[in-house]
Amino acid sequence: MFTDIPDGTTAQQFWDGFYGARQVWSGDPNPLLVREVEHLGPGTAVDLGCGEGADVIWLAARGWDVLGIDVAPTALARAADYAARAGVTASAHWQAADLAAWRPERQYDLVTVQYLHSPVALDRTRILGTAASATAPGGTLVVLSHAAMPDWHDPAVALPTLEDVQRDLALPRDQWRLETREVVERTISDADGRSGTRSDSVIRGVRI
Ligand SMILES: C[S@@+](CC[C@H](N)C(=O)[O-])C[C@H]1O[C@@H](n2cnc3c(N)ncnc32)[C@H](O)[C@@H]1O
Repeated sequence: MFTDIPDGTTAQQFWDGFYGARQVWSGDPNPLLVREVEHLGPGTAVDLGCGEGADVIWLAARGWDVLGIDVAPTALARAADYAARAGVTASAHWQAADLAAWRPERQYDLVTVQYLHSPVALDRTRILGTAASATAPGGTLVVLSHAAMPDWHDPAVALPTLEDVQRDLALPRDQWRLETREVVERTISDADGRSGTRSDSVIRGVRI
């Protein structure tokens, strides 16, 4: 999936090509995100690296006013189309931006980052620091990351451990209450019938 990427390929070039002409992801909200936020009342939210927007649309359908940001305009156009079909255009908003340069103009009640992995340059530490600073006092930050994939899975992306993500977030203990910090394992299989274990790290913090 991530092979033969020419040197100098930008994030936008790579991800626009990746999304191409047809739907890539399932269209379903991430079950771990659902688990982490379904108890929260709605407010304002931002999803960093939203891809085709399934999580944004799920939040919008539950009453959140949500901004989805991604570097790939192709994915965002598809997300806007899905949002229209779901009847949530008034509360699902989209912004094409490279998160390495994105500076939030406001803070949000919920900031989410699901699987922000990339085979091209990605300043994860900076982006996660921005995610933390974009969380309003009393607001919630959720970061889901792949921590390990089966050995038959494409190895082109270096995956951070739970500890890596926590270090990158650098949430001061006197300013954040860490409510979830765990690794969740799940059996997955590919089109050839191979199965294996995928591990995802889950961090949910509340800004005091
Ligand atoms: C593995 S996908 C995950 C998409 C979505 N969050 C999900 O869980 O389905 C990673 C996403 O991050 C986006 N992305 C990668 N680098 C980015 C960057 N520098 N700025 C903004 N988005 C970026 C990609 O376009 C892609 O949609």
